[in-house]
This record gives sequence, structure tokens and C-alpha cells, in this order.
Amino acid sequence: MTYTSSWRSPSNIALIKYWGKHGLQLPRNPSLSFTLSACHTNMTLVVDLSAGNPGIDILYDGQPKPSFEPKIKTFFSLLGDFFPWLNGSFVKIDSHNTFPHGAGIASSASAMSAIALCLMDINDQINGHTTFPGEMWCKQASEIARIGSGSASRSVFPGAAIWGAADTIDESSDRHAIPWNEQLSQVYKDIQDTILIVSSSEKSVSSTAGHDLMKNHAYANTRYEVARNNLSRLCEVMRHDEGLNTFINIVESEALQLHALMMCGDSPFMLMESGTVSVIKEVWRFRKATGIPVCFTLDAGPNVHLLYPSQYMSVVLAWIKNDLSPYCANGQYILDQVGSGPQKIELYSGI
Ligand code: DP6
Repeated sequence: MTYTSSWRSPSNIALIKYWGKHGLQLPRNPSLSFTLSACHTNMTLVVDLSAGNPGIDILYDGQPKPSFEPKIKTFFSLLGDFFPWLNGSFVKIDSHNTFPHGAGIASSASAMSAIALCLMDINDQINGHTTFPGEMWCKQASEIARIGSGSASRSVFPGAAIWGAADTIDESSDRHAIPWNEQLSQVYKDIQDTILIVSSSEKSVSSTAGHDLMKNHAYANTRYEVARNNLSRLCEVMRHDEGLNTFINIVESEALQLHALMMCGDSPFMLMESGTVSVIKEVWRFRKATGIPVCFTLDAGPNVHLLYPSQYMSVVLAWIKNDLSPYCANGQYILDQVGSGPQKIELYSGI
């Protein structure tokens, strides 16, 4: 018996960063992200329950992609309690990302959340009933996505999501993310994210290796406390249209802390490129000169996410084109914005 499911799931950009984990991908501090729109993964997953030869076949754009296998195999090996049928099935996966793989745009977030959503859907098909799009269903999809990649837990929800227990946030949990869209004031629902591709080459250090460096990091406990504090301050700010200056201060400080932690651990490393630093300085110059509330954040990579309210789009895009695109690989940048979350789609692939 064969079951098929296709989902489109977005990437997300963290404002409060998850950096440091323990146990089965449990976070050391709560994080908060915007769910994106243009940057997403289209995924088809086919499960053959009676193949007689359990296994996994991973394609990307219809072509074999053995480099994805270890992470996905480990992920599946951890899902026996949720999907007993997975053990003994033959699974085929085909996917396509709308953004460059491994460029610090969280491809694992969109891919792992897409897999989690396909598995949830196939589980419903096997059991003959569904509670989608109920709250419990979405939280379980988020929990499964988390086991694949921590940040993927947040991609399941539209607008904004919080993952990790926080004293000030009701129902927040380390096991799964919770939606935080309804609490956002309008200005934050309309935030644009223009992603400057300073480099599109593969990351030199994986996120998992980066999280590991937090284990013996001299500043680890301070960092977790600062992150908790930043989360509760940011949540308060984002409930209202005013307070963009505080938003900017917290978001940029989080990005720089993430990279500072990488640079002062036991085995230091640096993911920023010279273009990253030039862009950051140019953002500060432009904001001071114009008063336009544009700020930056960074993932675990060299690319810069520029965040700004949609009303400033034309002037910000003109500035990016003239002054910032020279720092981008092949002048490349991606126009994205806060998005409406994952979507079940018609069959993406012919597998
Ligand atoms: C810097 O979720 O990619 O993007 O759980 O090991 O898969 P794993 O790590 P991952 O880490 C993301 C780190 C970050 C910050 C964030 O998205 O919160």
C-alpha cells in the first residue's frame, strides 16, 4: 500500500536566536522567528508500507542527493513512537528549495518542517482520520519538525512563532513551537525581509557543530539569560506599532551576539565575510542619515537579512540596488516578507 503527500513549507528568520541545545534537540533558551514566504521548500513524500525492503531514497529536483541521507535517516530513526509504520517502510522524498542550499538561509527549517507535515498527513491517511488544522495537530507537526532540526519547529506556524519555554509566554514549550501571530501588531505583520546573498557557497560550519560549541562556552549561561530577557522585551514591543527603535536594538544585538559567540569559543570560527561587515556598517549609516527603520539580522552564515516595514519598500530597494548589491554574490538578493505558513499542495514531483 502506497501513500503520498506534498507540502510547501517556508524558511524562517530568527529574531531571538536558538544557539545551544541538549537532549533530543531541546533548546537552551527560547527563540522567536518570522515565518518567511518566498524562501520555501516544496516536498513530496511517498511511503510504501508493503515494499518488503525498508529503506529511503532521497532526491532533490528529481536527482539523487546522497548528502541529505545521514540527517534524514537519523531523523526517521527517532520517530518510531510517533509513526510506528515508518519502521519497515520504503520512503521516497523529492524536494526543491526556492533559495540556494547551504547559504545560511535555514534550508533545514523548511525541509524538515515539510517532511514533518508530509508524515503527519500520511499518518492521517493511514489511520483514516485527521484533526488538521487543529491546534494539537499543528503542535505535534512542530514537535516532529523540531526532532529533524530545532529551528524547523517554528516554520509550521504563520507570521511569527516562539519555540522554547519562557516564563512570560503562556503555553510556550521546549517540545514544540507555538504560534505568535495574533499578538503581533500590524507593522510587524507587514515586515519585509530582503536577503542579501553575500555568499552562496556551502556553510563552513554546520549549525549542529555550532550548537555543540555552546556546551563548554564560557559565556553560555549569560547568553541564555540575555536571550530570555530579550525574548520577553521583544514580545512586549511587537504587540504595539510604536517601539521600532527597541525592536531594532534587540534584533541587531541578537545577530551580533550569535556571531560573537562563534568567535570567542574554544575553537573559534567566523561565518561573516568582509561583505557582511560592510553591509552592516552601511545599514547603520543609512538609518542614521534617513531615519528609516531598517535593521539587519544574520543566521549562521554570511548573508544579511534586512528587515523593514513595507511602507519603506521602494526607497529601501533603491538603496539596496545602488549601494548594497555590489556586496552580493553576482549582485543577488531575495525579496521576502513575513508569510502565511505552510500549505498542502498538489503533487510536487512525479516520484
Ligand atoms: C542560528 O535549527 O539549524 O539559525 O537544531 O542542529 O538543526 P539544528 O540547528 P538549526 O539552528 C539554527 C540556528 C540559527 C538560529 C535560529 O534559527 O534560531
